[in-house]
Formats: sequence, C-alpha cells, structure tokens
Amino acid sequence: MEMQTKQKTLALDNAYEILEQSIMYHNGQPIGTIAALQSPDLSAENYSECFVRDFVPSALVFLADGRSDIVKNFLETVLTLRTRRRLVAGHEIQPGVMPASFRVVNEHGQEHVQADFGERAIGRVAPVDSMMWWLILLNIYEKSTGDKELSQRPEFQDTMSQILYLCLQDTFEVSPALLVPDACTMIDRRMGIYGHPIEIQSLFYGVLRIVHSLFKAETDKDKSVLNTAIVREKALLNYVRIFYWLDLDRLNEIHRYTTEEFGIDSINVLNIYPESIPTWVPDWLPDEGGYLVGNVGASRMDFRFFALGNFLSVMFGLTSDVQAARIMKLYELRWDDLVGAMPVKICYPAMEGLEWQVRTGSDPKNVPWSYQNGGNWPALLWPFVAAALKSGRGDLAERAFDTALSRLSNDTWPEYYDGRAGRLIGRRSNFKQVWTATSLILSHKLLENPAMLDLLP
Ligand code: GLC
Repeated sequence: MEMQTKQKTLALDNAYEILEQSIMYHNGQPIGTIAALQSPDLSAENYSECFVRDFVPSALVFLADGRSDIVKNFLETVLTLRTRRRLVAGHEIQPGVMPASFRVVNEHGQEHVQADFGERAIGRVAPVDSMMWWLILLNIYEKSTGDKELSQRPEFQDTMSQILYLCLQDTFEVSPALLVPDACTMIDRRMGIYGHPIEIQSLFYGVLRIVHSLFKAETDKDKSVLNTAIVREKALLNYVRIFYWLDLDRLNEIHRYTTEEFGIDSINVLNIYPESIPTWVPDWLPDEGGYLVGNVGASRMDFRFFALGNFLSVMFGLTSDVQAARIMKLYELRWDDLVGAMPVKICYPAMEGLEWQVRTGSDPKNVPWSYQNGGNWPALLWPFVAAALKSGRGDLAERAFDTALSRLSNDTWPEYYDGRAGRLIGRRSNFKQVWTATSLILSHKLLENPAMLDLLP
C-alpha cells in the first residue's frame, strides 16, 4: 500500500515536471503547452507546437490548481489567431474555423504567434474539433473561475456567432449530424472517418448544450441561429441515441432488416444492408454491453468502436443513462480488447489488409494495431475516467488509472502503445508527451474530486 502511494507521488511529481517544462510563452506570458518534449520524428516538428485539443487536459489541471491566467491567455490567443486564417484560391476558410495548433516564432527580435490551419500539417489536414474544444473550454473556464466578463467581450461573442453559423448552416445535409472530412479530429490521418464520426457529433452536442448560456444573440439573425441551435440539440440527441446505438437487440434488428424500402414510413431509413455487418461484431458484442458506432450514413454503418466519441457522449449526456451503463459494461466485459496493458485503445478493431490499404492509403504509421489504427493512447485515460465516474463505475476508473500508473513514468510518458493488448511502446512514439502526463494528473484529480465533472457541458 505504502509502496503504491509512493509510486503515485513520484509519478505525479514527474508528470508535473513535464507539464511545467511544456509551457509556451509569448512576450513573457504563458499561453499554452507544447505537445511533446521529445520526438524521434524529425519531420514532425509540429510536436513543439501547442495543439488546441492537447491543451484541454493541461487547461483543466491549471484551472484546478488556480492557474487560470494561462487558460485565459490561451483562449484569447486562439481567438486572435482565428482571423489570421489563410486564403485558398477560390474560397476563403470560414472565420469560425480555428487552428489545429500554433507556435511562437521569433523574427528580427520580435515574437509573434503563428497558427496552423492545416497548411503546414502532414497531409494538409484541417481540424474541425478545435473550435468546439475552444468553446467548451471557454465554458469550463467561466464555470471554474466565475469570470463572466471574458465570454461577453464583443470579439468572443462574434466568434461564437461565427462558429454557430458555420456548424448550423444548411449544406447538403439531411440529418442532424454534422458532415466533416476525414482526419479532422484527434484522429488526424486518413482512417475512413469522413462523414459523421461520433467524436465530432459528441463535441457538437457539447457545444449546442452550452451555447445558450454563453451567447447573447442580440441581432435578429443571431437570435434565429440560436433558436436553430436549440432545436438541433434535441434532434441530434434523438438521432444519435437511435441511429448510432448498437446492442444485441439492435444488431438482431439490423440483421433481419428489410432493405430498399421506399417512402416516409420505411423502417430501415438509412438502408443499411445486413450483409455489411462485419463478422467480428456478433461474436464480440456481449449480451449486456452496447456502444455508439463510429459513423452512420446512407447504407453505411461503421461498426468500429471509437473510444473518444463514446466517452464524450457519456460525459456530455448525449447517451441515455442506460446506454452509458452499457458502454461501461462493454469495457468491463471486453477489458482485454479495449484497455489491455494500457488505457485506452483508440479504436477497435484495427483495419487490416485491403481495408487498411484502401481506407488509410497504405499509411505505414497506421498499420494494424498501431498509432491511430488500434493503438493504445494514455491521453484517453482522463475521458475514460470521467465517463466511468459519471456512470457510477468508479471501480473501472480506478482500475484503468492503476494500470496507467504502473507504466507511464517508467516508460517516459509515451504518446501511444502498439499491439493488440497495447504492451509495446509505439514504434514511432514521442516521449514526454504532454497530454499523456496531464491525462494522469487530471485522472487523479477526478478520482479525488468527482465534483469536477460538473464543469463539463
Ligand atoms: C497526433 C494526434 C493528434 C494530436 C497531435 C499532437 O497528430 O493524432 O490528435 O493532437 O499528435 O499531440
């Protein structure tokens, strides 16, 4: 017992050292945290940038430790960068879009912050999740500090309005879910998640849930977009709970679906072909478990299990209580597959063979059971812990935390692990990955004080 407490103290102290060293300064002010302190991959020099999504656990730790100034500076910095978006021949990137990352560059003795909207990123991928995380973090900052002045500033109000217009404008969509390209989330390489990935739907839902408490909507146009947001919130909730949900009953239904139905009364509205159910699903899905599938569209159900989308859905109340409990039951019953030696596997199962070739473009970093194609990411520990605590499964939260604690510090805080069970340090993994360290600190804080969950949307 004493041994364990000592191990915990040492690991947490070590994690704090990493967090401290990762702080990025602009003109002497802390404005964010860089992604990793040690990268073997010289081409990926962007690991020394501050990624918006990676900063979220840093921010929660700073807020809990009374260092809200860093979070405030970050929110202001990202907001300013938004207006420095690049122009693309033929169109302009929408003003609501926020960068994936930013860095401080020194030119002729002058420091300035440079954003990356995807123009420097590998594969030129642009994020969709950044603007959503930014808004969710703004809300968390406000709840945590009681500072209501920041979100009421005109430039913050303008930004919220732009984000809402961007997400709610009528496009080619026929469902309440948001249509996005591949690689626009935490998974930022081609992984066949274009369309309506669950991670984006859950973040979008988080935004819709909080926006009415932040956004004043003074003009008629803004009032109307806010009303649309309120209607969309309910529509998205119903849609996800019905169409993304998979348990044994639902699988039986899909297995016996009638297809090619025409008309408004059809039952199999998305025309999902039973033949598209992969063989692993009926063997793997336990009687008492269930989950939200990765993606849904016309004749398309991506049956893969994506961890972050499921966690965020539980955390933000996008799933019903029963669904949340079943997701946790799935973890309990399929622990070896979904957690194994390191919490938590990013998606299950990995794509192999022809599917891997076609969907990833034969990406050698995303070979089966590595990196984003079924690798294990300690950065996902904190949303797992949050989701487990929220659904009354503190036992699973503790178990995952103990598993991570036993290895992360000794392994020098890797970015990810490889292998079916996540036993190997990722082949091209960074070390001293900052969100690996902050995830452990934050998980510890959540376990000690579950009331922190009230800060979430
Ligand atoms: C990788 C991850 C991405 C993360 C970035 C920085 O590209 O896929 O989610 O933000 O590294 O850590």
